[in-house]
Amino acid sequence: MSVLPTQIKNLLDRDNWFRRGRRISFFTGPSPEIAAIERRDRNAFRHIAVVIAPTNAAMERLRAPSNAGKFPRALFLSLEELAGTASMPRPGISSFSAEILSNTPVGDAHYQLAFKAPALRDFRAPQFFMMDVKPQRAPFGARAVRRNAWHDAVDWTPQPLLKRPFGICRDFHPRFPSDYLKRLVLPPSLAPFLHLPTPDHFDALYKVLPDGIGTPMMTRLKRGDRVHMIGPLGQPFDVRQLRAAGVEEVHVIGGGVGMAPLITLIEALRFHSFRLKVFLGIATLESLRYRDELAATFGEKPRDAYVYVDDLLAAGVPPRDIFLSFDRAMPRRVRTISRENLFSGLVPEQYRNTISKPTNTIAFTCGPNRMMEMMDGICRRAGMPLKVLMEKRMGCGIGVCFSCVQKVRRSDGSEDYVRVCKDGPIFDAKDIVWNPNDSKQPSATCGCAPRC
Ligand SMILES: Cc1cc2nc3c(=O)[nH]c(=O)nc-3n(C[C@H](O)[C@H](O)[C@H](O)COP(=O)(O)OP(=O)(O)OC[C@H]3O[C@@H](n4cnc5c(N)ncnc54)[C@H](O)[C@@H]3O)c2cc1C
Ligand code: FES
Repeated sequence: MSVLPTQIKNLLDRDNWFRRGRRISFFTGPSPEIAAIERRDRNAFRHIAVVIAPTNAAMERLRAPSNAGKFPRALFLSLEELAGTASMPRPGISSFSAEILSNTPVGDAHYQLAFKAPALRDFRAPQFFMMDVKPQRAPFGARAVRRNAWHDAVDWTPQPLLKRPFGICRDFHPRFPSDYLKRLVLPPSLAPFLHLPTPDHFDALYKVLPDGIGTPMMTRLKRGDRVHMIGPLGQPFDVRQLRAAGVEEVHVIGGGVGMAPLITLIEALRFHSFRLKVFLGIATLESLRYRDELAATFGEKPRDAYVYVDDLLAAGVPPRDIFLSFDRAMPRRVRTISRENLFSGLVPEQYRNTISKPTNTIAFTCGPNRMMEMMDGICRRAGMPLKVLMEKRMGCGIGVCFSCVQKVRRSDGSEDYVRVCKDGPIFDAKDIVWNPNDSKQPSATCGCAPRC
């Protein structure tokens, strides 16, 4: 683009980002040069293409996955958002049918569910979705449904079971490699206005509860099944507000499967170049290992890959900033993570031992309630704000049934109830009135047991 809008020029002048041999080119529409940048750069992200749209609505159209061929591996910017004349629209809730791409067992009792759900495109961490645990059945036979596009608008679900809530673990953007955050560094002043192409498929990680009804049924979902979902649900969290509040470092503490919905939050924090430290509490390393069924068939060793650990590395968190605690068996080594970052015990204990006088820092946590309550105590003593992602059993997910209420303390000292699905799932830990009876799994299956 020959003449850059002054606001963009001013923002770029603020950063010394270009001194490290990086380049950024701006376009106002499709251009063969965008594809050439992708070809020459080979995902090193030393040269980035940014497509400028006049309005937010126009930008949303350009970001659509169907346009990925026209704007390969480009980021997007809206002049309307830059000028502050209109903020990005809030994602609306959709009711839709998602296509299952895979449903893979991981470690013990965990499954990774990959699915295509264009209607979740506007989700922002830590929003979640509710899904049926059984696939949709076609009333007139599979062929009739395939031929008619309108089937997506109808919920054919014949199941008497309520939908179950799950967080989104990873979102994947067309033409962007899944580990792009390892290399992408953006000009800090401009980054808040840059947007990735709309994600086109997602991963969720779920734990099969031994006394659960729905999660054991979910293990039978297979590639090609269609499952009815609603989402994105809950309040989005805009990580850009942290920069405005002077936050420079963010600590993320996940207990077991509580790490799953935190990964997309970590990705958003990395996109905006926050310094990060991530603490993950698990029972054993084996509970995270990808099970390579084919490797077993051919008598080969399973892949040396671990869910969460590999997701964190793909999200660009350096190994030195990943801390692992094991509450059952501590391994002698974990690939790429140094021994000093391994701990035998509960994750809040490791966190307490590791942090020292945090300033301009905020922490986020999700996991068993007992663990989050311990984190609340540690952060209060360290004088650090803590945000918690609450999990409650949910009926509707949209604020109608009041099955997900959480007791909170208001600033005047009075107590009240909030709905986790509508007002959450993220809350200030200082507001939560902890209740020991809320813990989901008071048994050895919660990932933090037997002590929690
Ligand atoms: C916003 C949100 C995001 C979530 N994200 C994930 C995720 O990414 N991965 C994941 O594995 N799980 C996640 N969960 C939890 C998941 O929804 C439950 O584990 C699942 O619904 C259990 O279904 P089930 O039918 O197997 O169990 P059920 O048959 O419904 O219940 C089995 C037992 O677990 C208890 N229980 C079930 N769900 C909860 C809950 N949320 N809180 C307290 N007790 C409960 C029940 O009281 C019962 O004792 C999330 C929950 C919420 C609210
Ligand atoms: S799940 Fe119905 S109000 Fe929250």
